[in-house]
Amino acid sequence: MSGANEGGAVRVYVLNGPNLGRLGTRQVDVYGVTSYADLVTLCVDTGRELGLDVVVRQTDAEHELLGWLHQAADEQAAVVLNPAAWSHYSIAVRDACAMLRGPLVEVHISNIHAREEFRHHSVVSAVATGVICGLGVDGYRLALRHLATVLGATG
Ligand code: DQA
Repeated sequence: MSGANEGGAVRVYVLNGPNLGRLGTRQVDVYGVTSYADLVTLCVDTGRELGLDVVVRQTDAEHELLGWLHQAADEQAAVVLNPAAWSHYSIAVRDACAMLRGPLVEVHISNIHAREEFRHHSVVSAVATGVICGLGVDGYRLALRHLATVLGATG
């Protein structure tokens, strides 16, 4: 596991896949009214309370997410990942997740099992440490809380 940074906080990456940058205006009945900017604040603030150094990123480009997962693997860092639509078909994202050496919590804002059938299966879940879905953006907070516990953060 990666060590603490200079301030004593443990690095955790919160990585978000395609269309999640549109949170707050995108299908608010499904994903809620929290904007992506608000999600970033929520994750960083939660991390600060928990003694985690949280870095939040979002991309619509698969190769960019793969690069971030490779970086997390190299750093043995913990990851919270919402792979969004890639959850359902990207073997490349799954393979990159399988290389991680720290814990991986997969998060979905919506309950993918209660939606269209093509969303019921995530190719990532089998290589994740755990999965949280259907709890809205609170799922990110819960994922960070879990990671703070297992990483022995000091917050
Ligand atoms: C999602 C669920 C996916 O099916 C969808 O493609 C997303 C978001 C969620 O957070 O609920 O973009 O991962």
